[in-house]
Amino acid sequence: MASGEHNDQLLVESSATLDSKGEKAHANQESLQRIFTIPETGESTLAQIDQAISNNLDGFLAEHIVAIEQDLSEIETNFASADIPEQPFYVSSYTDFVLENLVSQSVHTSAPGFVGHMTSALPYFMLPLSKIVTALNQNLVKVETSKAFTPMERQVLGMLHRLIFEASSDFYQQWLHNSQHALGAFCSGGTVANITALWAARNQMLGEQNMSQLGLYGALQEAGLKGLVILVSRRGHYSLAKAADLLGIGREQLIAVETDHEYRVQVESMRHQAKVLQSEGYGILSIVGLAGATETGSVDNLEALADLAQELGCHFHVDAAWGGATLLSDNYRGLLRGIERADSVTVDAHKQFYVPMGAGMVLFKDPKQLSSIEHHAEYIIRRGSKDLGSHTLEGSRPGMALLVHAGLNIIGRKGYELLIDQGIEKSQYFAELITQHPEFELLVHPTLNILGYRYLPAWLESRLDDLSGETLQQVNELLDEVTQLVQKSQRAAGKTFVSRTRVNVPRYHDQVLTMFRVVLANPLTTHEVLNNVLSEQMLLIESRDVQRLLTEIRTITAQS
Ligand SMILES: Cc1ncc(COP(=O)(O)O)c(C=O)c1O
Repeated sequence: MASGEHNDQLLVESSATLDSKGEKAHANQESLQRIFTIPETGESTLAQIDQAISNNLDGFLAEHIVAIEQDLSEIETNFASADIPEQPFYVSSYTDFVLENLVSQSVHTSAPGFVGHMTSALPYFMLPLSKIVTALNQNLVKVETSKAFTPMERQVLGMLHRLIFEASSDFYQQWLHNSQHALGAFCSGGTVANITALWAARNQMLGEQNMSQLGLYGALQEAGLKGLVILVSRRGHYSLAKAADLLGIGREQLIAVETDHEYRVQVESMRHQAKVLQSEGYGILSIVGLAGATETGSVDNLEALADLAQELGCHFHVDAAWGGATLLSDNYRGLLRGIERADSVTVDAHKQFYVPMGAGMVLFKDPKQLSSIEHHAEYIIRRGSKDLGSHTLEGSRPGMALLVHAGLNIIGRKGYELLIDQGIEKSQYFAELITQHPEFELLVHPTLNILGYRYLPAWLESRLDDLSGETLQQVNELLDEVTQLVQKSQRAAGKTFVSRTRVNVPRYHDQVLTMFRVVLANPLTTHEVLNNVLSEQMLLIESRDVQRLLTEIRTITAQS
């Protein structure tokens, strides 16, 4: 990756800034040759950046990440041109541009105070290992372009399979490297994993032969079905809707089922709706359980859902993109009890396995299930080969499994257990802090390490129960504005960051409220940082705009 002076050429202009400052090189055979060979000196800007990152990532990020938010429209002016540069720039000019305009305006997702999203800090060893993935540029679609990476990826899939389904050693002896089958599919993330799971379930249900010969319409007719439906909690991730759309089932055939006071799907309601739909002539393609819902972190009663799937005779998929890693903790794996009865499970390694983005997996309990989506071609993924591409939605794929393999070996089960336990316990600490604070209201109690809350002053809290339904709704809407304003100002100030979302709240008759959303997965986040998140929000409450909203609330409540 590093580049010496002599091969410091031939990269692409992206903006007016680069155009105005960047030094132009000349495209010719010789310069092309240079950029594809290993550099001899380490003095180029790129080599220096590389060195700075290698020496001290935190220092590099601290120096290069801005605290002051620049407006996106302003940043867009640096990326305004749609012209591909005719002549190339020197790598040094280009990397200067990247440092100034991209790195400095990116988001410091590994900062201890960045507790708003699922993307957080990475263990340092991921960086040099990522370079190996890039340098080797293995393509996991087939053995011919990946060799040892194929059995390594199969081993990773086997490890995850065992973590979930806990089959015997003999089982893995038989299936791990079996050329006819795969225990799962490695992919770019939870979205593709969910699509793959439901794709396999659809083909299995309608018969892969019927699907390939007749298409969805014909296969449904053959099965005497009006259509297919998927049932999931209303907290299901939107990737499931994408899957329903792509698979030809129809987005509206993804049935959102109500949740209880802990945001777990109401299994009885799902049972009732599934039976009504069945009686109307629909086939139940799958019921989906959530193990770590995106906004609430809630975990469905997977045991009860497994019973329901058995009763309905349908596929049972668990979306454990976020929560799957909880299985690595002996202390909390019980929260996911029943997951071992799923037919398929989605797990994202780029979430709580602390792997860089682009690493998701879907695991199938039955190694034969993936055969329903098997594809072959003459020049690759031939029949009987061990090519992984015959069972994946994606074609060419990088060797990201190496980074999962690294995490599992370098952090180990025990290390992950500590990370998971710390995240959950920190969430409990923060939830307690919010509960004890007279000016905040905990709205989503953490099951795992995600929680939701909002600003609610003590004087208002004591009056809420006396308000009429209409006034309460009005007050909540104004509080939504408060949450939004505070969240935006906090983000702009750049010290700490929480995200915001809108979720139905049982306490307020399921009114959908705006709330601060906190995800606690960064091991560098301390109790002190969490205290600071609230102190900073209390300061932001003093702003004129927020005070204006609070005055409006006082007026409304005084009149009622
Ligand atoms: C529960 C759940 N499922 C699926 C996904 C989609 O994962 P990805 O963004 O990796 O495609 C997410 C992402 O946040 C998620 O939280």
